[in-house]
Amino acid sequence: MTEKLKIAVIGCGGIAKGKHLPSLKKIKQVDLIAFCDIKLERAEEAAEEYGIADAKVYNNYKQLLQDASIDVVHVCTPNNSHAEISIAALEAGKHVMCEKPMAKTSKEAKSMVEAAERTGRKLTIGYNNRFRTDSQYLHKVSRRGDLGEVYFAKAHAIRRRAVPTWGVFLDEEKQGGGPLIDIGTHALDLTLWMMDNYRPKAVMGSAFHKLGKRKDAANAWGPWDPEKFTVEDSAFGFITMENGATIILESSWAINSLDEDEAKCSLSGTEGGADMKDGLRINGENFGKLYATNVELESGGVAFYDGDEESDSELEARLWIESIINDTEPTVKPKEAFVVTQILEAIYESAKTGKAVYFS
Ligand SMILES: NC(=O)c1ccc[n+]([C@@H]2O[C@H](COP(=O)([O-])OP(=O)(O)OC[C@H]3O[C@@H](n4cnc5c(N)ncnc54)[C@H](O)[C@@H]3O)[C@@H](O)[C@H]2O)c1
Repeated sequence: MTEKLKIAVIGCGGIAKGKHLPSLKKIKQVDLIAFCDIKLERAEEAAEEYGIADAKVYNNYKQLLQDASIDVVHVCTPNNSHAEISIAALEAGKHVMCEKPMAKTSKEAKSMVEAAERTGRKLTIGYNNRFRTDSQYLHKVSRRGDLGEVYFAKAHAIRRRAVPTWGVFLDEEKQGGGPLIDIGTHALDLTLWMMDNYRPKAVMGSAFHKLGKRKDAANAWGPWDPEKFTVEDSAFGFITMENGATIILESSWAINSLDEDEAKCSLSGTEGGADMKDGLRINGENFGKLYATNVELESGGVAFYDGDEESDSELEARLWIESIINDTEPTVKPKEAFVVTQILEAIYESAKTGKAVYFS
């Protein structure tokens, strides 16, 4: 076997430990050789659990990037440093997987796309919901043309009460926004990918700060600090595309609604429709009758063996590493993530001004 790819992880918090590190650890063609966190003990802990025997630890990412033996960097820091660290890593000759959202602004996201083009290194964004079984299946259905022309879609990112209270998620300056940029980004990415449509024409948006200032609020992760809650608690967008297709995006961390649905989309096309309720449902018309089918997504298993199916995160990591080894395009292309960033930014802008934002 050729030499293993050497991977470094910058930011050793929740998503690094919950997704990147366990998935990368399962891939035979890589070694985890360097870890960085401004809280050094987090880098040390991660190195101990996931790294090779003499893995290096840093509290300054610039020092880590000086190690010429590192091939790939995973950027798992808060949103405000995604662009800076990813661009520096690309300039240092590394391939980069950066967590979602790509960046706080479309200007930063554009600089990331340009840096990848300039350096010839690969860049991808951690839109792991594309790698779920239902998403993979629906993408195949849609790409085969079974739905016809998809002219209406909904992107769902609605939590009734699940405000992330750790880290800096409530901090407008560090995150660039609340549920829209945090979970709306996944739902919109999924929707555009299913539609294969990256040409927005106009956006109207609204954002609300209605529940965030409440004290002792009910919440999946415990009550939040209303003083720190500077981002919106809900945001909604109405997006029209150049070909006339229309998308409604709904995002919330806290809203009085029983209609919860996160990182999902509903599609309506000329030949059929689909949604991700109760698993995956495909609907349409055959022989003058309407039909709706549920796709069986579980592979089953037997009493003594659950099966050894690859998880979403493992598939995401494996395809990313294979794209580097085989020199192919990653599943999540930087230009696609740039369009997601542009649309989210336009929703925030429209919410502030009360006016539609038009793309030239
Ligand atoms: N794909 C997903 O579904 C998903 C889920 C959760 C979080 N995320 C994304 O991952 C990112 C991190 O979120 P998290 O939940 O892991 O947050 P977290 O606060 O748990 O972890 C972030 C870590 O980065 C470290 N850090 C901050 N600035 C740094 C810097 N300049 N250099 C090195 N380390 C630095 C912090 O000390 C912390 O340990 C966010 O952008 C978030 O949107 C993605």
